[in-house]
Amino acid sequence: MSRDSHDEDSESGRGAEREHAVQQSAEELLRRRDEIVEGPSPQATEQQRARGKLTVRERLDILLDENTFVEIQGHRRHSSTAFGMQRRRPAGDGVVTGWGEIEGRTVFVYAHDFRALGGSLGESHAAKIHQIMDMAEAAGAPLVSLNDGSGARIQEGVNALAGYGGIFRRNVRLSGVVPQISVILGPCAGGAAYSPALTDFVFMVRGVSRMFVTGPDVVHTVTAESITHEQLGGADVHAESSGVATFVHEDERSCLRDVRYLVSLLPSNNQQLPPCEGHDDPLDRPNDTLTGTVPADSKQSYDMNDVIAEIVDDGEYIGVHSQWARNVICVLARVAGHVVGIVANQPSVLAGVLDISASEKASRFVRLCDAFSIPLITLVDIPGFLPGKNQEHKGIIRHGAKLLYAYCSATVPRIQVIIRKAYGGAYIVMDSGSIGADLSFAWPNNEIAVMGAEAAAGVIFRKEIENSSEPEETRAARTQEYRDELMHPYYAAEHGLVDDVIDPAETRRVLARSLKALHAKAAPLAQRKHGNGPM
Ligand code: HXC
Repeated sequence: MSRDSHDEDSESGRGAEREHAVQQSAEELLRRRDEIVEGPSPQATEQQRARGKLTVRERLDILLDENTFVEIQGHRRHSSTAFGMQRRRPAGDGVVTGWGEIEGRTVFVYAHDFRALGGSLGESHAAKIHQIMDMAEAAGAPLVSLNDGSGARIQEGVNALAGYGGIFRRNVRLSGVVPQISVILGPCAGGAAYSPALTDFVFMVRGVSRMFVTGPDVVHTVTAESITHEQLGGADVHAESSGVATFVHEDERSCLRDVRYLVSLLPSNNQQLPPCEGHDDPLDRPNDTLTGTVPADSKQSYDMNDVIAEIVDDGEYIGVHSQWARNVICVLARVAGHVVGIVANQPSVLAGVLDISASEKASRFVRLCDAFSIPLITLVDIPGFLPGKNQEHKGIIRHGAKLLYAYCSATVPRIQVIIRKAYGGAYIVMDSGSIGADLSFAWPNNEIAVMGAEAAAGVIFRKEIENSSEPEETRAARTQEYRDELMHPYYAAEHGLVDDVIDPAETRRVLARSLKALHAKAAPLAQRKHGNGPM
C-alpha cells in the first residue's frame, strides 16, 4: 500500500469518526431535549392528568401564539444532595422559563411543572424565575406566571425561602412597569401565595387552583376546624370572599384564552399606551335604550352592566373582580377603539353604596389603570357610604381614603358621568371634578347633593316641621322646595362642577369625543420619593 493511499484511508477513517461523533452529539442533544419537553416520566404525566390538570407544555401551547415559545435554562438541574436528592435531578428543575408571543407581542413566562419534584422551588428553580423576571423588566414586556407548585422545596431549607424573597423583591420592582399576570393552576401554598398577591391580576380555575398561607392540616391542628382544600382556598372563595382572585374560570383552557384576551388590552409596559384598535361600532351610535334601562325613580334598582354594555364597543368588556364587592363594578373595555377602565356603582347590589371591600376593589383598579395609561370613566349612581358600626370599626375611613387617594393621584384622562344620583362624600370620591376629573357630565334626571331631599329637609327645617300644625304637609312641601332648588344637575352645572348636562342617548358619543381630545394628556408629577397613602 502506498503512503498516499494509507493517508487517504486514515483521513477517511477520521472523517467517519468525526461524522459519528457529530451524529452522537446530535442524538444526545435530541435525547436531552426530549427529556426536557417530556418531563420526568410517563407515570408523572398520568398522575398530572389524574389530578385533572394539563401538563406544562399543553398550557404553554394554549397561552402563546403557535411555535413562538423559546425556552431557556431547560438543562438546568439542582445541585442539592440531602435526602437522596442527588438521584432526583429532573431537567429544568420543576419550572419552564422563556418567552413567546401573544397576538404578535412578546411576553415572558415561567411555568411550574408539578410532575418534577411537585414543582417545588429550590435555589436553581428560583434562579431561573429571577432571570426571566429580570428579562421581562429589561425588555419592557408582560410577565405571565403559571403556578402549579408545592412551595418552598423542603429538602433545600432556607435556600428555598431566599429564592422566594428574590421573587417578591422583583414583583415589587416590576409593579407598575410591566403588567404581571399570575395564573394559579394547582396548589399555591405558604408564602408562595404572596407572589401572585403582589401582581396585577390573579386567574383561578374551579376545582384546580388552591391558594392558602396555611393548609387544612395546619388549620385543624391550630384551630381544630375541619375544612377542605377547596373550602379554604378554592377559586370561588378567593373570587367572592377574599378578593385575591381577579378572574375565575371553569377550566384551564378558557382561563388561558382569557389571559390572552387580557394581554391584548394592556400596553407592554408603562412607557407605552394600550393598543388602540380599529372598530366597526360607530362612534356616534345613539344610546336610545338607556332611558329605559335606568328607572327615573332614584330608589329603584337596575343592572349597571346593561348601561356599560350599551356604551362600550360591541357591548364587549371584561369584569375585574366581578364576583367580589359587587356593589362596585370595574371593567376593562374599549370605547371607539381606546382601551378604558370603567368604575361604576351597581344599584342592584347594596343599592350601590361604597363599603370597605368596594373601596379597596375600586382603588386597586384605579391604580392599575393609572399605572398602565388606561383612561378612566366613572359612572356614578351612589347613595353614599354604607353606614354602621361594623364598617366604622373595621375602618371605612381608612379604606375609603384609599379610593380617594387613588383617584386624586391618577394622571390618566378621567371622565365622570353622573347617571342618576350622587350624594355627599361618595359623590366627591367617585372622581368628581373637584378631585381632578378632567371632565364631568350629568344626565338631566339627576340628584346631585349633600344628601337625599327628605333627609336634607329633615335637618334644616326640623324646628319648622316640629312646630307645624300639619307637620307631614310641611315636611313634604319643604322637601319638594329643597329638591327644586338644589337637587338637579343644572345647579352643579351653573357652578361649574359639571361640564355639561347630556341626553343619555349621547353618552357614547360624548365619551368617545372626550377620550379623543384627552388622548395625549400629560400631567407632571410632584417631586417626592413617594406619597404616604393609606395602603
Ligand atoms: C419538596 C414536595 C413538596 C415540597 C410536595 N412535594 N411538596 N417536595 N418540597 N414543599 C413532593 C411530594 O413529596 C411528591 O413527591 C410530589 O411533590 C407531589 O406531592 P403530593 O403530596 O403527592 O401531591 P398532592 O397530593 O397533589 O398534594 C400537593 C400538596 C402537598 C398539597 C402541595 O404535597 C403539600 O401539602 N405539600 C407541602 C406544601 C408545603 O408545605 N410547602 C411549603 C410551603 S411554605 P413524589 O416524589 O412522591 O412525586 C413555603 C414558604 C414560602 O412555601 C416562603 C416565602 C417567604
